[in-house]
Amino acid sequence: MLPKDTLALGTTRSAIRELFEYGKKRKAEIGDDKVFDFSIGNPSIPAPECLKEAINDLLENEDAVLLHGYSSAQGDANVRKTIAEHLNSVHGTAFSADNIYMTCGAAASLCISLRAVLLKDEEVITFAPYFPEYKVFAEGQGGKLTVIPADTKSFQIDFDKLEAAINANTRAVIINSPNNPSGVVYSEDTIKKLAEILNAKSKEFNREIYLIADEPYRELVYDDSTVVPYVTKYYNNTIVCYSYSKSLSLPGERIGYIVVPDEVNDSKNVYASVCGAGRALGYVCAPTLFQHVVARCVDKTSDISVYKKNRDLLYNGLTELGYECVKPDGAFYLFTKALEDDAEAFCEKAKKHELLLVSGNGFGCPGYVRISYCVATETIENAMPAFKALAEEYGK
Ligand SMILES: Cc1ncc(COP(=O)(O)O)c(C=O)c1O
Repeated sequence: MLPKDTLALGTTRSAIRELFEYGKKRKAEIGDDKVFDFSIGNPSIPAPECLKEAINDLLENEDAVLLHGYSSAQGDANVRKTIAEHLNSVHGTAFSADNIYMTCGAAASLCISLRAVLLKDEEVITFAPYFPEYKVFAEGQGGKLTVIPADTKSFQIDFDKLEAAINANTRAVIINSPNNPSGVVYSEDTIKKLAEILNAKSKEFNREIYLIADEPYRELVYDDSTVVPYVTKYYNNTIVCYSYSKSLSLPGERIGYIVVPDEVNDSKNVYASVCGAGRALGYVCAPTLFQHVVARCVDKTSDISVYKKNRDLLYNGLTELGYECVKPDGAFYLFTKALEDDAEAFCEKAKKHELLLVSGNGFGCPGYVRISYCVATETIENAMPAFKALAEEYGK
């Protein structure tokens, strides 16, 4: 007899993975350039040059026993200090190494943070459209995920629905900005209002409600005017979950961190609980070599101008064809309204044109589809006739 939940997770592939696998098969049948695979969020641009330099230099000049050995469970102290100082210089915060806990990417950051704060059956709130793994992560840590329906006009937060949803069992709220799948960045007004509501509700229910800021796309913004507010400055009980998967194009290396600021109530114990959650989940330490690598590239990103070019090409092309979408400020996704109510049926029709799009249903936002534009720019250029033919099928 096996646990039903893990067995179910292991035997059903996510819709995105399913489509990605279909794309690989289809490419083998008809050729790579004939299939327009917009299914998955795998960075399409290489890691920056500093990464290779850092790896080579570390391998050449540092002690191999140290580089490939265990670090402290919470991560190397100098690496954590470098990251804290970097955040302070960019955001005007006052973190030290003791506020940082190194992790194996955002997935680990989220699972550890949830495990650290959730009691059994407590509730975690998030906002549609949302990263579908949040449900897996919250339930995996004994919690329950509640999804606030999307405000599809702006993809900011529907505060009335949030206020109505928070209750005496709510322990955490997850936000993700820049957002997967909408590409929208939460404005400063949105974050301020969110903080106001969470403060009022914490008081009303006399309990901590943690704001978990999932930020793997923080640096991926495309217009100089776009500011991604640093959430710890607006709400005290904030825990930041970060990953280098997207900013440095390193998803396979599994490296990121958690920030537990001093402003969190009882922060030393929350940090200790994060350490304990890492232990309970079997994350002894994040990969040591890559802790040192990211510390050396702390202020760098991959060349994100490619994503900006892709965003502009896709957004302008699709809106000209009559598709309705909110212009993405960041991440590398565009969320467009399907041309019929049933997004699944729309994706099936798109498939006939070799366009692989992900239905919004899995993101808690029916009627929409996600297009990942972390692809070669030619893929977008070459896909435009297919998007046109698809739109024509719907009389556009
Ligand atoms: C919103 C969001 N959170 C978390 C993750 C997980 O990131 P990581 O690969 O660093 O675990 C992803 C990955 O695509 C994501 O889109």
